[in-house]
Amino acid sequence: MLLPTLILDCVPLVYCDAASANKINIDAAIKSILEDFNTPGGFGVAVVRKSTQESDWIVETKGYGVAKLDGTNATKDTLFAIGSNSKLFKALATGLLISNESFLTRISWKTKIASLVPEWGLMDPVASAESTIQDMMSHRTGLPRHGLISLSDTVSEIIRRLRYLKPSASFREIWQYNNHMYTLLSYFPPLLVGVSFEKHGNDFIIEPLDMHSTTYFSERAEKSGKLADGMMRDGVNQSEDLFGVGRVRALPYWLPAKENTGNVFFGAGGLISNADDMAIWLQALLNEGRHPINN
Ligand SMILES: *[C@@H]1O[C@H](CO)[C@@H](O)[C@H](O)[C@H]1NC(C)=O
Ligand SMILES: *[C@@H]1O[C@H](CO)[C@@H](O)[C@H](O)[C@H]1NC(C)=O
Ligand SMILES: *[C@@H]1O[C@H](CO)[C@@H](O)[C@H](O)[C@H]1NC(C)=O
Repeated sequence: MLLPTLILDCVPLVYCDAASANKINIDAAIKSILEDFNTPGGFGVAVVRKSTQESDWIVETKGYGVAKLDGTNATKDTLFAIGSNSKLFKALATGLLISNESFLTRISWKTKIASLVPEWGLMDPVASAESTIQDMMSHRTGLPRHGLISLSDTVSEIIRRLRYLKPSASFREIWQYNNHMYTLLSYFPPLLVGVSFEKHGNDFIIEPLDMHSTTYFSERAEKSGKLADGMMRDGVNQSEDLFGVGRVRALPYWLPAKENTGNVFFGAGGLISNADDMAIWLQALLNEGRHPINN
């Protein structure tokens, strides 16, 4: 049986099987990670397991370490940026558009981007003509990361400029991580159903799953008082001690956004959530997309 564990911080999904998980003390293992990294910060953990009784779930959520510079401890409802785990929400939202029977012209995982997005174009003519939704999602257009963007750009503007970025592989030759393709996916709800993708994701995924603390908007997360500080270690001589603490400073939230104001990087990495909501998310994923309690 799968025992999915989601660690909220920079560490993405960690899956382990129950047999090995039983042998280790998860609490002690997590505390030793905090100690090994000598971290001034903390994280949230959600562990869910479907019991043998149909519709019964075992759920544990907990916070570890420190959430804020003022010494507030992390708890199961401390909010963290979930970074690129946001991409899975984007994939699901795209799936909802694909299964939407009310479109006159249906789209599919194999729909070519060139037929859908007027601004689209890549330097490689083959990738430009042939890339499908599936190619973008699976990072195989031949475009490497090309990470630099300005947060003041619009999604449309970023898509329009993709044609000037050099590929480093042929189309479908290799897997290369690319955030821009997920920025492009966030263009589909406005393009196809005329709503912002934040609203689309909220109305069709986050709200139906009762993930009431999960949001794209840092303003809302800050108002709740639960948003963890990003922390940096200042003045550490890393050749003496890689994990030195130095002077700990709080960083401003990396992707600031007022309520209902989109941000160009949201599709690739904008969600903020806590261990309790991530437990629901994990259950829904294991439950074929259905709410663990109300279905
Ligand atoms: C925070 O956590 C530490 C370590 O578990 C504990 O010793 C301390 O009492 C906690 N502080 C508060 C205010 O709960
Ligand atoms: C499905 O399409 C209709 C019509 O465009 C739209 O109103 C609705 O929001 C869409 N549903 C989803 C889940 O995208
Ligand atoms: C950092 O530590 C190394 C090794 O002790 C030393 O040689 C170097 O001068 C230190 N750098 C600074 C900026 O203090």
